[in-house]
Amino acid sequence: MKTTITMCLITAVAALGISCADNREFLPGEVWLDENGVAINAHGGGMLYHDGRYYWFGEHKTEGEGGNRANVGVHCYSSRNLHDWRDEGIALAVDAEGSGSPIEKGCILERPKVIYNKQTDKFVMWFHLELKDRGYSAAMSGVAVSDNITGPYKFLNAGRVNAGKWPLNVSDETRQAAEAIAAGREAEVADNDRFLVRDFAVGQMARDMTLFVDDDGKAYHIYASEENQTLQIAELTDDYTAHSGRYVRAFVGRSMEAPAIFKHDGKYYLMMSGCTGWAPNAARSAVADAVMGEWTELGNPCIGDDADKTFHSQSTYMLPVAGRKDTFIYMGDRWKPENAIDGRYIWLPVTLEDGRFTLTWQPSWKL
Ligand code: GAL
Repeated sequence: MKTTITMCLITAVAALGISCADNREFLPGEVWLDENGVAINAHGGGMLYHDGRYYWFGEHKTEGEGGNRANVGVHCYSSRNLHDWRDEGIALAVDAEGSGSPIEKGCILERPKVIYNKQTDKFVMWFHLELKDRGYSAAMSGVAVSDNITGPYKFLNAGRVNAGKWPLNVSDETRQAAEAIAAGREAEVADNDRFLVRDFAVGQMARDMTLFVDDDGKAYHIYASEENQTLQIAELTDDYTAHSGRYVRAFVGRSMEAPAIFKHDGKYYLMMSGCTGWAPNAARSAVADAVMGEWTELGNPCIGDDADKTFHSQSTYMLPVAGRKDTFIYMGDRWKPENAIDGRYIWLPVTLEDGRFTLTWQPSWKL
């Protein structure tokens, strides 16, 4: 009898995708190994839960300072329990150096995120792209698709966002700024409008980014724009491979990057960082009733020692834990610019209370 009950429990638990491994601890900042005993290489990553498995996509970094450039591509790992990670290989490979492809080896390809489109039954990957040898000046978004979640993804194109389109919440002052610039009276233009207007014709800049699919199937691209001064939130087309033309500006002039979003009880929450490159800073958080806003800032969600440095990390994703109500994991990166491949993963449980969320440092924790 006892054996039967135990067997039933094991079967039920396995069916839910939760194994005994769940009892293991997360160790933020330690080296995390995959099932082959190799350090996981998926930085600035995001997660997609699909058919009972988590798929973790991130930047494959290499050794040394040059390791922050895309020498390999986007790496994918999968797991049932968030502890045992199977190496699924390179989901999107960079093209050969000298090929002239926008994603040729040596470009900068950051913060890849993958979403699933039910209508087309395809997986769609978006990422921040900087062209080879052009520093961070291109500020483009790239998109790739695949029939299989683990790839290979086919690169479609890369470019600026929503060329020739005003944001839905454009102000009269901003439109007037466009006229002033056209008439050569740039000095009249407010600092906060300068870059939006400058890039109106060529398309908006997009650097640090994330994706979000809402319950109604609409997907959004959230990215640091306007020389990182202002965040923009842009709706994607129904097949998720382009921008629909509808977008808003949020947190104008607040200089936020590393956006990560989640939805809980009908509210949308954003976590972001300030702009200090690879060095950590104090995080920001915000809440809204709709993805496109209005967003209300809630302050630094981190509490305790090193809260002003986000526990030496920068946000990359907010992971809803499958099958567990109210359970989200903060996924951040502890960058190592001098040896990019050794960047570490900082995952922490998210506490939800009083209409906001908080994070507290824990050297080890269990789900
Ligand atoms: C960070 C950003 C990273 C990377 C880095 C380059 O602020 O979040 O994704 O772009 O700057 O310095």
